[in-house]
Amino acid sequence: MSPSSSLSDVGAAVDRVVRARRTRKVLDGPWLTPPGGPETPEARAAFDRAVREALGVAGWAPFHFARTEEVPEPWRFALLDREAMDAFVARFPEVLVGKLPRIFAGAGALVQATWVPEDDPARAGRDWEHAAAAAAAVQNLLLACEARGIGSYWCSAAPLGTPEVLSWCGAAPGERWLGALFLGRPLPAEREAVEGIPGKLRDRRTPPEAGWLRVVGGGRDTAER
Ligand SMILES: Cc1cc2nc3c(=O)[nH]c(=O)nc-3n(C[C@H](O)[C@H](O)[C@H](O)COP(=O)(O)O)c2cc1C
Repeated sequence: MSPSSSLSDVGAAVDRVVRARRTRKVLDGPWLTPPGGPETPEARAAFDRAVREALGVAGWAPFHFARTEEVPEPWRFALLDREAMDAFVARFPEVLVGKLPRIFAGAGALVQATWVPEDDPARAGRDWEHAAAAAAAVQNLLLACEARGIGSYWCSAAPLGTPEVLSWCGAAPGERWLGALFLGRPLPAEREAVEGIPGKLRDRRTPPEAGWLRVVGGGRDTAER
């Protein structure tokens, strides 16, 4: 029996979700209705609830140093619901460039992800750990969304992360931006194949042996190193 075939059903489901998560630059509308289904208040409430749940799951990321007494986690997420997204676009129409009008139109929520750097320069050496922890929380969020049938797009288009934009979204001065996370219903598979815009590196993935894994040990004589 190979090690992977001994995974529990839950473990296998986690693997499936990790692999299934993909960048979806076209989303099919905000709500968790079946494709073509009505956008009812109930469907909208279900979507909002699922996003809130996913944010709660995101918070289980590892982090190394308490950032503040009240909120030790270094990440901060600003959740914009559909109304807030409309108000955001009305206030910052310059964000509607390139493919962003389409993604704004199809998303049901937008999460602005930031992290809180150290105030004291003597502790600035911790900042990379804060950023790494916050990125782990972002990935948790994307996976938790995927598990709930919510598609996502992690976008770092510069107009979405200006100090004015972040301040409007409630960020404290100095918070550093990790990106804007668009969330919504994925296109059905057959439409995704035609209309979907995948991440440009999606199909450039390599197996570990191609070079990004260096095995230290594994039968080699580590004393020779
Ligand atoms: C920090 C970060 C910023 C990103 N910003 C953008 C972006 O601005 N525009 C874009 O098209 N994709 C962006 N992406 C998504 C990548 O293009 C995508 O993850 C990659 O092509 C692999 O595709 P996959 O996510 O479907 O596996 C970003 C990803 C990360 C991690």
